[in-house]
Amino acid sequence: MPLPTHARLIDVGPRDGLQNEKQPVPAATKIGLVQRLQDAGLREIEVTSYVSPKWVPQMADNAEVMHGIERRSGVRYSVLTPNLKGLEAAIAAPRDEWPDEIVVFGAASEAFSQKNINCSIAESIERFAPVVEAARAQGIAVRGAMSCTVGCPYEGEIAPEKVGYLAGLMKGIGVQRVDVADTIGVGTPRQVQAALAATLAHFDVDAVSGHFHDTYGQALSNTLAALEVGVWNFQSSVAGLGGCPYAKGATGNVATEDVVYMLHGMGIETGIDLDALIDAGVYISQALGREPQSRVSKAIRTKRAG
Ligand code: HMG
Ligand code: MG
Repeated sequence: MPLPTHARLIDVGPRDGLQNEKQPVPAATKIGLVQRLQDAGLREIEVTSYVSPKWVPQMADNAEVMHGIERRSGVRYSVLTPNLKGLEAAIAAPRDEWPDEIVVFGAASEAFSQKNINCSIAESIERFAPVVEAARAQGIAVRGAMSCTVGCPYEGEIAPEKVGYLAGLMKGIGVQRVDVADTIGVGTPRQVQAALAATLAHFDVDAVSGHFHDTYGQALSNTLAALEVGVWNFQSSVAGLGGCPYAKGATGNVATEDVVYMLHGMGIETGIDLDALIDAGVYISQALGREPQSRVSKAIRTKRAG
């Protein structure tokens, strides 16, 4: 199969990237990050989540961030909503501050579902169904994130059948596209291809994205493995920010800078300006008091300095 000629990146840095930060990150900094990402050519940005502030305090400023971002036409802004309460909060704002897309998030592993959203997989689908229905009735698109599709911090290796089962349930309740996530970054290319194949039995390839954390340094290889089976949508975090609070030891998403460098080097278009993206990564990393976790960023900044 020929590789895709273009790819779409969803930067999840403002949400997946920042949700686990212990120090409070001011809303203005998050808004500044979204601005820089869209300036760099990102056309999809996962901005925040409407979850319990007791569970994820860093996302408690969700409404302030959604209010503060400068909307640009052609950019899709998404937010996580685990239940009707989350959706209601997301659409309590004036319509021009609504998300373009909401994300319901489930897991292929029962144990992770319990730890992350405090319910079983079956219960989560029951909870998501009215959320999906209400969002779509309001003209809001719906994505489904599927965590632990290759490995789980509590259950170990996850069989592709479990991924297929979850993908089928998501499809059944009207989720329009899904993310195949390696939450703890343990997967290797063949495992990721198996998880994708199980998902592709239920969703068209254009509706499937890869969401790879880079804990074991496999995320770029897994991205290439996904491209090989035709997947061309990916989630990544600028400066490699991130980690899930309910997946101990999991590091950030693959750095958007590293994915863009690889894709452009292979002649796959993204519409992203790598230099501007590197500057966005420097901006947020400085705000957090650390170096960007991207080899490409480091190499290019070293070259710039020289
Ligand atoms: P629960 O305790 O089972 O819910 O939590 P509940 O309905 O019993 O409500 C308990 C309290 O939470 C109540 O408040 C509710 O009002 C409040 P209290 O009366 O105690 O003051 N509450 C809410 N508050 C704000 N927004 C809401 C909301 N819902 C209830 N939407 C719940 C269930 C899902 C809410 C909880 O478990 C939660 O918030 N979990 C957070 C999960 C999370 O954000 N995880 C990280 C994101 S997922 C991820 O990172 C993976 C991903 O990147 C893909 C990958 O890499 O795998 C997507
Ligand atoms: Mg994630």
